[in-house]
Amino acid sequence: MAEFDAGVGRDRLVTESDMRDLSYLKACIREAFRLHPYHSFNPSCVAIGQNPRAFDDPLEFRPERHLLLAVGRTASGVVVWLVEPKLWFISFSTGRRGCPGLSLGTLITVMLLARLLQGFHWSKPPGVDRIQLREAAASLVLADPLVLQATPRLPAHLYESETQ
Ligand code: HEM
Repeated sequence: MAEFDAGVGRDRLVTESDMRDLSYLKACIREAFRLHPYHSFNPSCVAIGQNPRAFDDPLEFRPERHLLLAVGRTASGVVVWLVEPKLWFISFSTGRRGCPGLSLGTLITVMLLARLLQGFHWSKPPGVDRIQLREAAASLVLADPLVLQATPRLPAHLYESETQ
């Protein structure tokens, strides 16, 4: 949240032009891909990202590790991409069978998560005391759907303008 409030402010919604500066958010998405690859084509793709010879405490969710692997640096900080061309883990893969939807997939994933986090506080729904984030036994998706309660955290007019 600090990344949005400091970089974007609270008087406008995050947009595509902010993407380059959302390094920590992109590091979180990379870390999610590392631990839970989106694609199950390659049967060993989970093991690649959880290799203890490549990552310290490989089962821990630690986005900061991607700031160290960043591809470059600008005046405002490090540059983080979702694609991992060196295949330390699989996000979009690479080469001739790599994902042709890389740009669109990056844009949709970053903007969706950015707006969900900037625009809302997230909490457990009433009556729910524990959220289960277990993976399903036979696929890479969650065993149980994630249900959360969203509460707006920005001025009301920002939500109105988006629906007109
Ligand atoms: C976050 C979003 C996405 C991720 C993480 C992702 C990841 C991947 C991965 C890992 C592969 C397999 C590469 C391999 O076998 O080596 C793949 C293949 C593919 N992706 Fe994506 N993808 C995403 C979004 C998209 C989008 C938005 C499109 C199209 C608009 C797309 C179209 C394809 C196609 C057509 C293939 C098959 C390529 C081939 O076999 O030659 N993907 N994707």
